[in-house]
Amino acid sequence: MKNILLTGGTGFIGSHIFIQLIKCGYYITIIDSNINSSEKVIKRISDMSELTPFFDIKKFKFYKGDIRNEILLNDIFLSAKEQNNEIDAVIHLAGLKAVRESKIKPLEYWESNVSGSIILFKVMQKFNCYNFIFSSSATIYSSDGTGFFDEDTIIKPINPYGNTKAAIEQILRDLFDSSPNLWRIACLRYFNPIGAHPSGNVCEDPKGIPNNIFPVLLKVASREIDCLEVFGNDWETPDGTGIRDYVHVLDIADGHIMVLKYLMKNPPKVLNLNLGTGVGKSVMELINTFEEVNQIKINYVFSNRREGDIPRSVANIDLAKKLIGWDPKNKLADMCKDGWRSKLNNQ
Ligand code: WQD
Repeated sequence: MKNILLTGGTGFIGSHIFIQLIKCGYYITIIDSNINSSEKVIKRISDMSELTPFFDIKKFKFYKGDIRNEILLNDIFLSAKEQNNEIDAVIHLAGLKAVRESKIKPLEYWESNVSGSIILFKVMQKFNCYNFIFSSSATIYSSDGTGFFDEDTIIKPINPYGNTKAAIEQILRDLFDSSPNLWRIACLRYFNPIGAHPSGNVCEDPKGIPNNIFPVLLKVASREIDCLEVFGNDWETPDGTGIRDYVHVLDIADGHIMVLKYLMKNPPKVLNLNLGTGVGKSVMELINTFEEVNQIKINYVFSNRREGDIPRSVANIDLAKKLIGWDPKNKLADMCKDGWRSKLNNQ
């Protein structure tokens, strides 16, 4: 069975991909610096009763470290090879991902995300590993259009975080062009992943002050934060609040498994795919849905628009549906229910 290196595997999305990889019976190697996650999630996942039939500790290795550590990466690939279990593919999520923080610390974002990825690509090449799935982002798209994005939408990020994601995608296209008969690459452009595994064992728990709305909403619901600031109710949208394409993190994880299987059984290529639902929901719809499904009151106040925000961001997911048969099943109510259950379980 194939050995998959999952960088950033103890993070919010990484840990959900970890669960799905276990269920598929893969050998799994995780490298994570735990700068924005905890190693504890590995035990919580390996203790999940539903994984008992699948989880085999002999098929799993965890390395705490940064992908910029070339010596460590080299050791990971070398030891896998020496155990006749060489790494067949890499799913790459490790990186910094806070838009607002990226404006304050652009060099950290370029060094961590881009330099780190280049080191990873060099080590992959050294060990003849050419199968790669990249955690990209909807923030690379130009904000000049309608707010409804397909994979051919112009790439024009407006913040350092998005710039690093676009730069890594460009490096990947150059890598492919240098050896078009070797590289199998998929850039998955996430829209707004939220929610959590229904077991309640895994949740988004960013260190420090969260940037994204859902972890803030969870902290308001648990009374850790007094009130949710709604960034603008004067947008050109039906209820005046920002519209986003919220997608269940489990559907995102399933998308990675489906793309992995697709890449491994098809000729070398570079693939860009949107991972969203194709359905836009406003901030008020998110708040109202969360209150309704969890029977909890959310304190909120309308405030000014956040710099860099756009009124609408919704995915066209026709290509992912057609190419890999990806069809996200979970609705906003599921995301809100699963997210809140996990928050309560991991207080
Ligand atoms: C969502 C909506 C805000 C916080 C995200 C990720 C980015 C990328 C693309 C993966 C907007 C509003 C937010 C708050 C609010 N995903 N909001 N109060 O900006 O769409 O970007 O998707 O790479 O990583 O950041 O997500 O959750 O910050 O905002 O009203 O306290 O919620 O204005 O309309 P965004 P977000």
